[in-house]
Amino acid sequence: MGDLLVKLYDLPAMPKASDARFQIKRPMAPEKRTVVRWVEERFGERWASEVEMAFSGHPIRCFVALGEGRELAGFACYDTSFRGFFGPTGVDEEYRGRGIGTALLLRSLHAMADEGYAYAVIGYSGADEYYQKTVGAIPIPDSEPGPYRDWIKRSG
Ligand SMILES: CC(C)(COP(=O)(O)OP(=O)(O)OC[C@H]1O[C@@H](n2cnc3c(N)ncnc32)[C@H](O)[C@@H]1OP(=O)(O)O)[C@@H](O)C(=O)NCCC(=O)NCCS
Repeated sequence: MGDLLVKLYDLPAMPKASDARFQIKRPMAPEKRTVVRWVEERFGERWASEVEMAFSGHPIRCFVALGEGRELAGFACYDTSFRGFFGPTGVDEEYRGRGIGTALLLRSLHAMADEGYAYAVIGYSGADEYYQKTVGAIPIPDSEPGPYRDWIKRSG
């Protein structure tokens, strides 16, 4: 599970809003705890910690996907553990395979391009083929474990 590199100056266009059965939005500060709790319940405390970082300033470096009842269905962050990194991202199991993960990915990468980045790194990918297919990501040689090393041992 190494890191991948993505060209932000050559991204596919965002899917048209009329095609979407869900809404992608940048959450607001009052929604922070709702989003962090949702991520922690499904994906654990490390990803929840990174989401907290995404809410630590403006612009909030996170996007969420809402289903038809405005319930949370997925999230994606950038600039959390490291500047210029995309992730973490996750979609609730019930909502997978409907294009939500790709919409969150593209929305986030376009935001990074708008904020002045030329390239993004997808950290500790675990889904290389998917990122290669969707955004032309290429592996960064010898990047495992890359910057994710020397973890603090968790107690309990
Ligand atoms: C990866 C993830 C965000 C994709 O969300 P999604 O809403 O299902 O994605 P989409 O519907 O846009 O795309 C689905 C496609 O991605 C592919 N895909 C999903 N996870 C994959 C993986 N780990 N490796 C390869 N392909 C993968 C699916 O096979 C599907 O392919 P298809 O379009 O050819 O059928 C979701 O599977 C998830 O939350 N996984 C657990 C958390 C995770 O691994 N996050 C990424 C870590 S970098």
